[in-house]
Amino acid sequence: MLKSTVWLCALLSTVHATLVTDVQGTAFQSPSAGKSVSNVTGIVTAKTSEGFYISGTPSSDVRASNGLFIFSETSTVLNKVAVGDVVSITGTVSEFRSSSDPDDLTATEIDSPTAANVVVLSTGNTVTPVKLGTDRVPPTQALSALDVGPDGWLSVPNNQSRVDTVNAALVPADYGLDFWASLEGQLVTVPSPLSVAFPNEFGEFWVVGDWPVTGLNSRGGLSITIGPDNIPDANPEAVIIGAPIDGTTNPVVSLGVTLSDITGVVQYQFGFYYILPLTAPKVLTTPTTTAPPTNITADITDICIVTFGDYNVDNFGPTATQLPVVASHIATDMLSPDIVFLQEIQDNDGATDDGVVSSNVTLSNLVSAIAAVNGVTYDFVVIDPVNDADGGEPGGNIRQAYLYRSQKINLVPGSPAGTATETIAVSSSSGVPKLSLNPGRIDPSNAAWEDSRKPLVAEWQTNGGATLFTVNLHLESKDGSSSTEGNSRPPVNSPVAKRTSQVELVTDFVQSVLDIDSKANILVAGDCNEYLETRSVFASLTAVMFEMDELADVDPVERYTYVFDQNSEQLDHAFVSTALSNRQNAIQHIHVNNWMANINNRASDHDPSVGKIRLC
Ligand SMILES: *[C@@H]1O[C@H](CO)[C@@H](O)[C@H](O)[C@H]1NC(C)=O
Ligand SMILES: *[C@@H]1O[C@H](CO)[C@@H](O)[C@H](O)[C@H]1NC(C)=O
Ligand SMILES: *[C@@H]1O[C@H](CO)[C@@H](O)[C@H](O)[C@H]1NC(C)=O
Ligand SMILES: *[C@@H]1O[C@H](CO)[C@@H](O)[C@H](O)[C@H]1NC(C)=O
Repeated sequence: MLKSTVWLCALLSTVHATLVTDVQGTAFQSPSAGKSVSNVTGIVTAKTSEGFYISGTPSSDVRASNGLFIFSETSTVLNKVAVGDVVSITGTVSEFRSSSDPDDLTATEIDSPTAANVVVLSTGNTVTPVKLGTDRVPPTQALSALDVGPDGWLSVPNNQSRVDTVNAALVPADYGLDFWASLEGQLVTVPSPLSVAFPNEFGEFWVVGDWPVTGLNSRGGLSITIGPDNIPDANPEAVIIGAPIDGTTNPVVSLGVTLSDITGVVQYQFGFYYILPLTAPKVLTTPTTTAPPTNITADITDICIVTFGDYNVDNFGPTATQLPVVASHIATDMLSPDIVFLQEIQDNDGATDDGVVSSNVTLSNLVSAIAAVNGVTYDFVVIDPVNDADGGEPGGNIRQAYLYRSQKINLVPGSPAGTATETIAVSSSSGVPKLSLNPGRIDPSNAAWEDSRKPLVAEWQTNGGATLFTVNLHLESKDGSSSTEGNSRPPVNSPVAKRTSQVELVTDFVQSVLDIDSKANILVAGDCNEYLETRSVFASLTAVMFEMDELADVDPVERYTYVFDQNSEQLDHAFVSTALSNRQNAIQHIHVNNWMANINNRASDHDPSVGKIRLC
C-alpha cells in the first residue's frame, strides 16, 4: 500500500491525468459520462472475463469512489493487465445499463478502451481493501432520499421519481443506495459475514457483516420493522454476494449461516449493488434446522377456545411432493389446530390445465396423511373456483380451503354453500348476523378479484354454541414489483392498488357483520402478500380489526413468515374483531420452512402460523 501510494502521487505530479474519483464524482452519475478521459490511473484489484477493476488515489470526500470498472472483453486488453499492475487508461466513460433492465440503476465504467490506451506502468502493487464496518459503515434505515411518504420505501404512490434523472449528490451516511454507490468499483472486505437468506438460483446470497444492523431476528435474518422515525426500515445494511471472480462456487447458505470474511469489488448489476467476491467464502457455522413447534395447544373439549393454523402450502396438488411434510407440519409442528386456513390448494389434477376444478381428492389426500401421523381426522370446506379464473400456476386453480375438527366445531347450518360466482350477503336475524351462503365468497365478480383468489367466508359454531366468522384470504402476489435497489423510487410495489382494494372489500364485509353485531367474533387470516409495514394497504382493515402479532405484542423482529432478497418479512397475517381482541389470544410463526439448511428442502416458501382465540 505504502509503495503504491507514494508511486501514484509521484506519477500524478508529472502528468495531466483524470483521477478515478473525478470520473466517479459525488452523485450517482459520472460527471464525465459520455466523455473521454485520459490517463485514468489505478492499481488493478480484480479481473474478470468482462474487464477489470482499478483502485485510484482516494479522495477525502467519501462520496467519490476511488474504484472503477474498465469494461473490455478484448483479449489483447485483458491479457495485458494483471492484478497488482498500475495501469493508465484513456477511454470513454459510460453509465451502463442493460437495455433489458430499464429499471436498473446504471454502473459507471470506462467502456472498451483500445489495447494501446491501456498502459501498464508497474507491477506487483497491492491495495488494502476498505474494511466495511470499520473504514466505512453502512446506514441501517433507508435506501434513498427519494423514498418519500409516510411508509418510506413502502409508500404509496410509488414510482414517483428516478434515481438517474434526479442524480442527487450522494449522502452515504444516511441512504443505502448512496452508500454502496460511493464504494462502486472499490475493493472491500465484509468481516464475519452472516447470511440473511437462501441463495437465489444463481448461488448469490445476501449478507450483513460485522457492523451495526437493525431488525436482526433471533435466527440471524433481517426483519422488516418500523424504524425509530416511524418509517419502515428498508434494511440497506445488507448486500448481495455475487459469483466469485476466480470461478470458485459459493457455498449453499441459509438464514443464519456464518461465513469466512469476504473480499470483493462493489458492482451494480441485476438491480442491486453486489459485492463480487475474489473467491468463494467458507461456511463457518450453520444453525439448527429444527424449528420449535408451537406450544399453543388445542383442547377438543373446550367449547370457548379455538386454535387455528394458517398455511400457504405452495401449489399443493393431490400428489404434491411436499404432501407428507405438510401433513407432518400440521400434525406435529402446529399440533392439529381446530381450524386450519389453507392457501394454494390445487385441483384434483394439479397443474394440468384441463378444466378440472374440484379439489376434494387433493384435500382428502392431505386429511389422510395428517390422520396417518397423529390420528386427528379433519373435514374440509372449499368452494371450487371458475376454471382458470383465479390466477396462480396455470391449470392449478389454486384456492383457499379450511380443515376443521368436526368433533369440536362445525359450519353453522341453515345456509346453502355458495358457488364460485355467488356473492355472500349478511342479514340480521333478530340482531344476529346471518350469512346468505355458508361458505361463500366476497363479491367475486368485483374487478379487484380479477385473476386473483376470492376470499372464502364461513360461519362456525362450537359444540357449546359459540360462533365465529372467518375469512380466508390469499391476496394478489407482488409479481411485477421492481428491485428495492432499482431506479424507481419508492420501488414499484405491484399491484399495490389492487391489494388495497381487495383489503377494502374484506373490510366492507367485516363491517357488514359488525353493523349487525358489534360484538361478533370475526377472524380474518391468510396470505396477504404484503407486510403490515405497508400501512396504506391495511388501513381500512386495521381501523376495524386488530392484527394478532400487534395484539399479542410479538417481538417485531420475530414477525416473519417469508424470506425474500435481504428481508425476513411477514406476508401471512391474522386479524380479529374487537370482541376477540378483548379476550385471551396468542399467535406464533413456526419456521419449519425458512429454517431449512437448503432452499430445496422447504415444503413451502411460507412458514405456517398458529393462533388461539377465545370465543366466549
Ligand atoms: C498521458 O500520459 C502520457 C505519458 O504516459 C503523456 O505523454 C500524455 O501527455 C498524458 N496525456 C494527458 C492528456 O495528460
Ligand atoms: C414507473 O414510471 C416510469 C416513468 O417514470 C414508467 O415508464 C414505468 O412504466 C413505471 N413502472 C411501473 C411498473 O408502473
Ligand atoms: C410458549 O413459548 C413461548 C416462547 O415461544 C413462551 O414465551 C411461552 O411462555 C410458552 N407458553 C407456554 C404455555 O408454555
Ligand atoms: C370427489 O368428488 C367426486 C364427485 O363428487 C366423488 O365422486 C369422489 O368420490 C370424491 N373423491 C374423494 C376422494 O372424496
